[in-house]
Amino acid sequence: MSLKDTLEKIKSNLFSVEIIGLGYVGFPLAVRLASKKINVTGIDINQERIQRLEKNILLDSELYLEKEFLECRNNGSLKLSNKSIQSENPKIGIVCVPTPIPNKNTNSDIFVKAAIENFLESSKECDVLILESSIEVGTTDKMSEIIKDGGFTLGKNFGLSFCPERVDPSNKEWGIENIPRVIYCSDDITFSISKIIYDNVNGGNLIRVDSPKIAEVVKSFENAFRLVNISLVNELAILCDKLGINVKEVINAAATKPFGFMPHYPGAGAGGHCIPKDPRFLLESARKLESRFDSIEHAIEINDHMPKYICDAIENKLEELKLQKTILVCGLSYKANVEDMRDSPSFKIIQEMKSRGFMVYGFDPFFNTKFSEKYLIENHITELNFKILTDLDDDSVKNIDCLCIVQHHNEVEQRVKEIYEKSLIPFVYDCQSKLSKNSQSNSYLDFLGS
Ligand SMILES: NC(=O)c1ccc[n+]([C@@H]2O[C@H](COP(=O)([O-])OP(=O)(O)OC[C@H]3O[C@@H](n4cnc5c(N)ncnc54)[C@H](O)[C@@H]3O)[C@@H](O)[C@H]2O)c1
Repeated sequence: MSLKDTLEKIKSNLFSVEIIGLGYVGFPLAVRLASKKINVTGIDINQERIQRLEKNILLDSELYLEKEFLECRNNGSLKLSNKSIQSENPKIGIVCVPTPIPNKNTNSDIFVKAAIENFLESSKECDVLILESSIEVGTTDKMSEIIKDGGFTLGKNFGLSFCPERVDPSNKEWGIENIPRVIYCSDDITFSISKIIYDNVNGGNLIRVDSPKIAEVVKSFENAFRLVNISLVNELAILCDKLGINVKEVINAAATKPFGFMPHYPGAGAGGHCIPKDPRFLLESARKLESRFDSIEHAIEINDHMPKYICDAIENKLEELKLQKTILVCGLSYKANVEDMRDSPSFKIIQEMKSRGFMVYGFDPFFNTKFSEKYLIENHITELNFKILTDLDDDSVKNIDCLCIVQHHNEVEQRVKEIYEKSLIPFVYDCQSKLSKNSQSNSYLDFLGS
């Protein structure tokens, strides 16, 4: 048996796919492939997640796929399991597990390695593994060694690809179905096999690169580009605050240049599982080679500093306005219109305000008290030391001195505007400068990059 036989069987639809890790990346991929009548098993070590999906209960962020998910569950094309399963026909495993920031106790590949080891336990000759997780430079080579230690020879009786996911949650224009993908493959047949898989994901729009390190650096560099630019624009906002000019006017005027400029907008800092993390992989790689990556290092520092800068601005203004220290932080997820609370700047603002003796309230239409414990872990906090508001009605906001808007979720955009326009809270600080000054309001409106 050779990889060519696998390719032939895949062409005859005699194969199965295992999506390993059913989170933000893996779940939509599993549904997408199963919707194409491919025999898919979604695998997750989180038993609660599997049980929830088995009961057909979806998270808010998954609901847009409900119809397809239920169809696939009903027609049997999408199965669920907590571990890899043996199969007679060729099996393609796609790894979508988290890749944490490495520290002295944990390597970034801890989950990737565990997922691959589990896949190999039920593998046979001529199966194929595709890594989609964002991995540190050198991880694909390390995983190749694990596959070889399992008794397989890459390019002969086993295939390995690295095809990093690029999805941008809540982006309506670009999704998994139309984002082009960079891919590295151990050999040509594995590329042909991967191409068939991705024909069903993004129409097979693949850019093949020759070395795993190139693909790994590409993925981290894309997010380093974002982090460096976000930090650049946040420093510009700080300068504009001092100059008393409007940062958005500066950016929008600069964006009229038809080439060589890409607008980025200020905010409380980049959060989530990707942008603050992936650039660290490049930094780590440079350090291992006794080199430097100063622009990334500085961008991380600026990003970490933003919540403190915002707290200083708010505290000073409250003093000036002779107001008390009761604040409502609105928009707790790391990005507008998503429920993902991982590494969110709002939680950093809240913790900073708590340490300054503020009474802190938080509000987010996506905050689900059932997941409080999870949000705390994701934001490295030990206890929920602030009060969660479940509503923004007049009564709930009546004793608040400052409304700090970190994310403008569409769902509450109108109400937030109304709170300002009806002067329901005396001081409003908008981290994204989206509200416009209104002379009818008695509330004081300030924003980052005034
Ligand atoms: N979320 C994004 O927008 C995004 C975008 C591009 C790339 N990525 C990358 O994709 C990867 C996955 O990110 P995510 O946001 O989907 O993470 P996630 O935390 O939402 O989901 C990961 C899932 O993997 C499961 N898991 C962990 N170890 C496992 C194992 N050994 N076997 C089976 N399941 C396991 C977890 O229980 C979890 O359900 C990361 O490397 C991330 O950097 C994420």
